[in-house]
Amino acid sequence: MKWLILSSLLAPLSIIASPLVPRQNGTAATAAATATSTSSGSATNGTTSPSNTTGTARVPTVTLYPDTSNGLPIEVSGVNYPQFQQDVYLGIPFAQPPVGDLRFAPPQSYIYNFSVTAQRQPSACLQDPSGSIGASIQSEDCLYLNVFAPQGANATSVYLPVMVWIYGGSFTSGSASQYNASFLEAYAAQTGKPFIFVALNYRLGAFGWGYGSGFAENGAANLGLKDIRKGLEWVQQNIWAFGGNPDQVTVFGQSAGAIAISLLYLDPEVKLFKSAIMESGAQSTLPIGPTASTWNSAYQYLLQQTNCTTIAASNSTSGANATAGNSTTPWQCLKNLPSESLLRGQLAVKSNVLFSGFVYGPSIDGDIIPDSPHTLLSQGRFARIPFISGNNKDEGTFVVPTFVNSTTLGFALVDLVEPNDPSNTTLLQIAALYSDVPALGSPFDTGNNTFGLSSAWKQSVAIVGDATFQANRRFFLRQANQHGFDQTWTYQFEQYTPGQPAYRGVYHASEIPYVFGAARPGVGLAGFSSNYTQADAALSNTMMNYWLNFAYYTNPNGNGDASASNTTYWPTHDINQNNKNMLRLLASNVTVFQDDYREQQMDFFLDRPREFNYRRSLPEDVIMA
Ligand SMILES: *[C@@H]1O[C@H](CO)[C@@H](O)[C@H](O)[C@H]1NC(C)=O
Ligand SMILES: *[C@@H]1O[C@H](CO)[C@@H](O)[C@H](O)[C@H]1NC(C)=O
Ligand SMILES: *[C@@H]1O[C@H](CO)[C@@H](O)[C@H](O)[C@H]1NC(C)=O
Ligand SMILES: *[C@@H]1O[C@H](CO)[C@@H](O)[C@H](O)[C@H]1NC(C)=O
Ligand SMILES: *[C@@H]1O[C@H](CO)[C@@H](O)[C@H](O)[C@H]1NC(C)=O
Ligand SMILES: *[C@@H]1O[C@H](CO)[C@@H](O)[C@H](O)[C@H]1NC(C)=O
Ligand SMILES: *[C@@H]1O[C@H](CO)[C@@H](O)[C@H](O)[C@H]1NC(C)=O
Ligand SMILES: *[C@@H]1O[C@H](CO)[C@@H](O)[C@H](O)[C@H]1NC(C)=O
Ligand SMILES: *[C@@H]1O[C@H](CO)[C@@H](O)[C@H](O)[C@H]1NC(C)=O
Ligand SMILES: *[C@@H]1O[C@H](CO)[C@@H](O)[C@H](O)[C@H]1NC(C)=O
Ligand SMILES: *[C@@H]1O[C@H](CO)[C@@H](O)[C@H](O)[C@H]1NC(C)=O
Ligand SMILES: *[C@@H]1O[C@H](CO)[C@@H](O)[C@H](O)[C@H]1NC(C)=O
Repeated sequence: MKWLILSSLLAPLSIIASPLVPRQNGTAATAAATATSTSSGSATNGTTSPSNTTGTARVPTVTLYPDTSNGLPIEVSGVNYPQFQQDVYLGIPFAQPPVGDLRFAPPQSYIYNFSVTAQRQPSACLQDPSGSIGASIQSEDCLYLNVFAPQGANATSVYLPVMVWIYGGSFTSGSASQYNASFLEAYAAQTGKPFIFVALNYRLGAFGWGYGSGFAENGAANLGLKDIRKGLEWVQQNIWAFGGNPDQVTVFGQSAGAIAISLLYLDPEVKLFKSAIMESGAQSTLPIGPTASTWNSAYQYLLQQTNCTTIAASNSTSGANATAGNSTTPWQCLKNLPSESLLRGQLAVKSNVLFSGFVYGPSIDGDIIPDSPHTLLSQGRFARIPFISGNNKDEGTFVVPTFVNSTTLGFALVDLVEPNDPSNTTLLQIAALYSDVPALGSPFDTGNNTFGLSSAWKQSVAIVGDATFQANRRFFLRQANQHGFDQTWTYQFEQYTPGQPAYRGVYHASEIPYVFGAARPGVGLAGFSSNYTQADAALSNTMMNYWLNFAYYTNPNGNGDASASNTTYWPTHDINQNNKNMLRLLASNVTVFQDDYREQQMDFFLDRPREFNYRRSLPEDVIMA
C-alpha cells in the first residue's frame, strides 16, 4: 500500500531532479538591455554573428602561463559583445576531459597547447536532456568555464574583483551556459563596480556524485565538488590574465550550487575565495550520508541496469555483455561503458520509485567531506570566510506535487525523501507543529486561500521547505555565530514573479533573474517569466548593488558607511549581539526583520539530525546525542 502511494508520487517528484527552474515560455536574455545597456546596438550578444557595431571586429585575447605549459604562453581568444562592451571567453578547459580512463577520476590539470579558441558555449555535462534549459548540447567532456569581462580587461589593466557562479540543478542537471552574465556585468560597469564573471561546469549524476560501495572503494565520490574546487584553483592561477584579482574572489551559487559552496566551508583551511553568497542551499539541504553504506542499493541497481552485475563473471565479449569487454570487475565495467549507456542507467535508477530520493549528490567520503556536516558545524570545524546565505519565501512549492490532498499523503512524501523513515510519533509531532490550517501553510501569508488545492498541500509545502532549506540555512548561520564568527548576513527573497500562478508563491530559483539583472521589462532569463515590471527592475538593481558590494568590500552595504547609500542598511546576523537580523528583499519593502519565524518548528528538525537528512545511515555509536 505504501509503495502504491509512493509510486503515484514518483512522477511529480522528478521535478526535484530537474533544474529546479520552472520551464516556462520565457524569452532568453538576448534582448537589448533596456535599462543597463551601455551602448545602443543590435540585439544580439555577438555569439552567433559578431556585429561590427564598433566599426572593427575585435577578437579579444589574453595570455595565460599555466603550470602545465612549462612557462610557455597560451593565448586564449574570445568574442567581443560590442553592444555590452564586454569581452567574453566561452568554453575554456580547466581540467582534462574526464573521459576514458579519467572517468570517475578526480579532475586532472589541463595540458594546454599554444592556444585556446574560446568562442562557443561549452557542452553541458551529461544529464537528462529533457529536463534542462541550455543543456541541449552535452558531453562527458564538459569541464569548461566561461569568463565575462569588461571590454579590454587584461593583465595590464586594474585588477578587478571576481565572481564565480556555481549553478544549481539537484546535482543532476544545469550548465554554465545557462547563465548569461551580460546584464549583471553591464550594470556593474555602469555603477562603477566592474568585475570579472566566471561560470564553471561540474560533473553531474553518476559521473560526479555517485553513492555506493563501488564509488567509495574507488575514491569516486564527490567528483563534482572536486571539479568545482579545481575550477576555483584555475581561477587562482589564471584569472589575473583577464584582469581579475585572485585575492578578491567571491563564489556565488544557487540550490545545488549553494550546497556545494557550503561544503567547501568544511575545509577550515580553504583559500580559494574570500567571500561567498549561497542562494537557497546549505550543507545538509539534501540528505547526506556515508558514500559506501548510503544508497548502496541504488548502486547495485545501477550495475544491474547497465548489465555490469553479471558481466564480470562472464567475460563475454558479445551481445549486451560486450561493453564489459575485458573488464574484470563491475566497477571496471561501469568505467568502460559508453557514456550514453551509463547515463541511461543513471536515469533508470532515478526513475525507480525506491530511489526517488537523492541518490546522486554529496556524500561523506572521509576526504573532501570528512564527516557529517551537522557534526562538523557543531564542532566549529568550518572556514571563517564571510558569507551571505538566504532563502526564498516558499522553497517547497515546487517539491510537493499539487495532488497531495491529505496529511497522510504529505507524510508519505516526507517518508520518501527522508531516508530514515521518521517514526509515526515524529510525524504526529510534526503534524502538531504544522497544523493543517491554510493560513499557516506555504505560500506563506496568503491567508485561507488554498488556490483550489488542498490545505494539506499548503501544510506539506511548509514542512518540506522548512525541513530542507530554511532550517539548514539557519543552522549554518547560528553555528557560525556560536563559534565566534560574525561576518554573516542572511536574506529572505519575497518578491512574486509576475505572471506565475499564485500557488507557487515566491518559489525556489525565482531570485536568479534578479541577481543576473534580467528581471526587467522586456528582458528575462531563459526559463523564467518575461513580464517583469519596473518595480522588479528596481529590486534587481538593489540586489545587484548588495551582491556587487559584497564582491568589492565583503560587505553588502559597500565600504561600510551606512550613510553612503540610499538603500536599506543590511546588518550582520549575530546571535552573540542578540540579533537575528535578516533582510527582506521585496520591491515595495526592503527592510530588516528577525530570522525567528517558525522557531519551534525548525528546531524540531535540527534537534533530530538522524531523522532529518543530516546523518542518514550513520552507525549508532557516532550519532551525536
Ligand atoms: C510555450 O511554447 C510552446 C512551444 O513554442 C508553445 O507550443 C506553447 O503554446 C507555449 N505556451 C504558452 C503558454 O505560451
Ligand atoms: C566586420 O568586420 C570585418 C573586419 O573588418 C569584416 O571582414 C566583415 O565583413 C564585417 N562584417 C560585417 C557584417 O560588416
Ligand atoms: C592589454 O590590452 C592593451 C590594450 O588593448 C594592450 O596594449 C596590451 O598589450 C594588453 N596586455 C596584455 C598583457 O595582453
Ligand atoms: C548569445 O546569444 C545567442 C543567440 O541569441 C545565444 O544562443 C547565446 O547563448 C548567447 N550567449 C550567451 C553567452 O548567453
Ligand atoms: C542490458 O541487457 C539487456 C538484455 O540484453 C539489454 O536489453 C539492455 O539494452 C542492456 N543495457 C545496457 C545499458 O546495455
Ligand atoms: C575474466 O578475465 C580476467 C582477466 O583475463 C580473469 O582474471 C578472470 O578470472 C576472468 N573471470 C572469469 C569469471 O572468467
Ligand atoms: C551476460 O552474462 C551473464 C553472465 O554470464 C549471462 O547470464 C547473460 O545472459 C549475458 N547477457 C548477454 C546478453 O549475453
Ligand atoms: C580485449 O582486449 C584485447 C587485447 O587488448 C582487444 O583486442 C579486444 O578488442 C578487447 N575486447 C573488447 C571487447 O574490448
Ligand atoms: C485525494 O485525492 C484522491 C485522488 O483524487 C481521492 O481518491 C481521495 O479521496 C482524496 N482524499 C481526500 C482526503 O480528499
Ligand atoms: C504508522 O502509520 C501508518 C499510517 O497510519 C500505519 O500504516 C503504520 O502501521 C504505522 N506504523 C507503526 C509502526 O505504527
Ligand atoms: C481562516 O479560516 C478560519 C476558520 O474559518 C478563521 O478562523 C480564520 O480567521 C481565517 N484566517 C484568515 C487569515 O482569514
Ligand atoms: C505576459 O503577459 C501577457 C499579456 O498579459 C500574457 O499573455 C503572457 O502570458 C504573460 N507571460 C508570462 C510568462 O507571464
